[in-house]
Amino acid sequence: MQHLMSPLDLSVEELDRLLTLANDIERNPQKYAHACAGKKLATCFYEPSTRTRLSFEAAMLNLGGSILGFSSADSSSAAKGESVSDTIRVISCYADICAMRHPKEGAPLVASEKSKIPVINAGDGGHQHPTQTLTDLLTIRSLKGRLDNLTIGLCGDLKFGRTVHSLIHALIRYPNIKFLLISPEELRVPSYIREDVLHKNNVPFQEVERLEDAMGALDILYMTRVQKERFFNEDDYVRMKDFYILNKKKMALAKDDMIVMHPLPRVNEISVEVDDDPRAAYFRQAQYGVYVRMALILTLLEVEVC
Ligand code: CP
Repeated sequence: MQHLMSPLDLSVEELDRLLTLANDIERNPQKYAHACAGKKLATCFYEPSTRTRLSFEAAMLNLGGSILGFSSADSSSAAKGESVSDTIRVISCYADICAMRHPKEGAPLVASEKSKIPVINAGDGGHQHPTQTLTDLLTIRSLKGRLDNLTIGLCGDLKFGRTVHSLIHALIRYPNIKFLLISPEELRVPSYIREDVLHKNNVPFQEVERLEDAMGALDILYMTRVQKERFFNEDDYVRMKDFYILNKKKMALAKDDMIVMHPLPRVNEISVEVDDDPRAAYFRQAQYGVYVRMALILTLLEVEVC
């Protein structure tokens, strides 16, 4: 039985197969419409979510399966003090696969150790968000045609942004990837990413503060929200929250074929005037999230569709 805690749980070859399967699902949805008939997905979300939870549920429904779950800790027995270990032992009796989001880093991993069904990390604190990374890789491969030879600007809250941490881990496995890390001093990537991931693997990167200085070099601009819920101090959040606002003027500095991605939700960091720019890919990215989660459910449940 396979769980998914990190994008690195999949080899590059396994990832390639998963993305190819997602593209086939996109082209031939009817072929997969009954693939999970009789199977159940549990979504155990101890933290708010729109895209991840609903795209998992849409994915299972699109595969002909059923869904159950909870969308906040308050509406589960976590509010009475139940541990994730006990919860997953019980969920294992009710469902065939579980997607879990939790504010504590490592909570889905703890759950996976007691689980009788595959557990998918749907975001754990500021740590990892592997299915967002799968979504991002599918978006990049589908829209840019490759996962190598890319200059990627990661912009915003690089300290607490778990989507950025997972994406860096996943992309460094491809040749000729360069990163421009665009953030204010206070929100730079954690040192373990800078030292243990980027330096250790000789991945070229540059840290810059001004978005304007990076725009012209980028194949992909990956914007992120300042993670209000992870700040200890409201004043710090207020000072940081509008540090970057991507608008038409800044988009004029970018290449014609650059794409703008964002895991969403956005707050102010991308002006709505950018939404009509053909390079704005963030809503297409959310759609790719459904296809890739369908492919992941099929893969972890070992369902083959001929
Ligand atoms: N991208 C993402 O994880 O969105 P949600 O928090 O809405 O699930």
